[in-house]
Amino acid sequence: METIKAPVSSAHERSRRDAPIHPLWLRVTHWLNALAALIMMLSGWRIYDASPVFRQIVIPPSITLGGWLGGALQWHFAAMWLLVFNGIVYVVLNVASGRFFAKFFPLSPRAVLRDLAAALSGKLSHADLRQYNAVQKLAYLAVIVDLFVIVLSGLAIWKSVQFPLLRELMGGYDNARIVHFCAMAFMAAFVVVHVAMVALVPRSLLTMLRGR
Ligand code: HEM
Repeated sequence: METIKAPVSSAHERSRRDAPIHPLWLRVTHWLNALAALIMMLSGWRIYDASPVFRQIVIPPSITLGGWLGGALQWHFAAMWLLVFNGIVYVVLNVASGRFFAKFFPLSPRAVLRDLAAALSGKLSHADLRQYNAVQKLAYLAVIVDLFVIVLSGLAIWKSVQFPLLRELMGGYDNARIVHFCAMAFMAAFVVVHVAMVALVPRSLLTMLRGR
């Protein structure tokens, strides 16, 4: 029994090792998502400045995209299609291939606290880039949910008359703007931490570019 099992499992192990850490479709959708999200954020800041939700918060025009309100709206609406359709491809392929559950689950508060403590004391292992640690799993799941909130609150603002239920779920038009802004702020904070973490483990950037 042992002698039959060993070659089968080692062949399986070898094919697992030879497979790219991130499949091509994941890398393409990740970078398209990053591009769309950055364009939406920078142009969104210019749109926000035209009518700030919070009077005390104004974004310096030099770090916005679009030049003026009309230009920024064009960038925002163009990148919106890329963000949504690319996001649908990412979610469908991820769930249908089984990768989503394999990569992000199981996940427990205990594991998050354990890995957070290990990370803060510099003891978190980055030896196996095939597996996300619990803090990464939580952060990635959170930003995926956040992107859903961004899109839905954006839709409630853009087509508030056509989607009254969505608008009311957001607490009305004015509240939808606050939801949209807060979800953007969460994504901005995620990107800052995400890029800093990638800089700490540069090998992870290579895997997201080359697959291994
Ligand atoms: C702009 C918005 C961005 C968002 C929303 C985002 C989101 C994500 C998510 C959800 C994952 C996990 C994907 C999965 O396994 O299914 C991921 C992985 C990754 N991202 Fe980003 N990302 C962004 C920008 C960036 C940027 C600018 C960089 C490069 C500096 C980057 C580098 C990476 C790398 C290297 C990984 C793999 C991490 C690892 O294997 O340890 N991301 N990102």
